[in-house]
Amino acid sequence: MENELLKTKKQESINVLAGGIAHDFNNILFAVIGNLSLAERLIEESSPIGEYLRAARKASLRAKELTLKLLNFASDAEPVKATESLPALVREAAGLVLAGSNKIQCSFEISEDLWVVSMDKEQISQVIVSLVQNAEQSMSAGGSISIRMVNKELVEDQVVGLYPGKYVKISLTDEGQGIAVQHLDKIFDPYFSTKERSSNKGAGLALAIVHSIINKHEGKITVESTPGGGTTFILYLPAQSSDRAIMPGASAILA
Ligand SMILES: Nc1ncnc2c1ncn2[C@@H]1O[C@H](COP(=O)(O)OP(=O)(O)OP(=O)(O)O)[C@@H](O)[C@H]1O
Ligand SMILES: [Mg+2]
Repeated sequence: MENELLKTKKQESINVLAGGIAHDFNNILFAVIGNLSLAERLIEESSPIGEYLRAARKASLRAKELTLKLLNFASDAEPVKATESLPALVREAAGLVLAGSNKIQCSFEISEDLWVVSMDKEQISQVIVSLVQNAEQSMSAGGSISIRMVNKELVEDQVVGLYPGKYVKISLTDEGQGIAVQHLDKIFDPYFSTKERSSNKGAGLALAIVHSIINKHEGKITVESTPGGGTTFILYLPAQSSDRAIMPGASAILA
């Protein structure tokens, strides 16, 4: 519990810092990119300077992407909650990530009477997208992702940090490379990444954002992993009484 509290405190102060820096940087980069584009337009086409200007603009665009990720991470936006059908949203988010991939299979196992959850659709969708992206990236040779959603009634002290009551439990399992034991307690830290940095991955912010979104929903996320044997992320989201979900789930395969 103390550890969790410390993590939340750490995250809050990082949010303030990151938000401020990202905001200023975004404005500065706007000026840098604008001027580089102007310079590119003014030089002779044959000039060797063009190549340097293009490289500088490309790097600045990457910096801008990163500041946007940071801003997103630091935004203290409280979730705008509405009662939503979790199965539809999870299928859609996973489908979005895997749309172009023919190496990854994604299967769903959803309890028919799954409780509804009060949540911020955008934010929870971002959570699923981030987790599926990580799963996909951990299976470079291809493999399967399985997503399970069940109702779970928790009693006191059953899951550290969660009040007793009704929850929807989402488990997302991949067959990827797994996470080294010494990395397990770092993966939710901002900027922790074992990936090569590129413009679209390796910032190490995705799971930090996921952690903060789930916290704001009064839920919990945990991870279990065996190096070489795949990874499972487990999420708990508080359920709304015993209302029924709108869409009953059945098993399905997504290409
Ligand atoms: N499903 C997974 N399998 C194996 N390792 C994982 C998995 N999910 C996360 N990790 C580990 O946790 C780290 C942090 O993940 P996170 O999504 O926060 O950052 P990232 O994927 O490295 O970069 P990005 O910010 O672009 O997502 C990863 O670099 C990886 O080492
Ligand atoms: Mg990631």
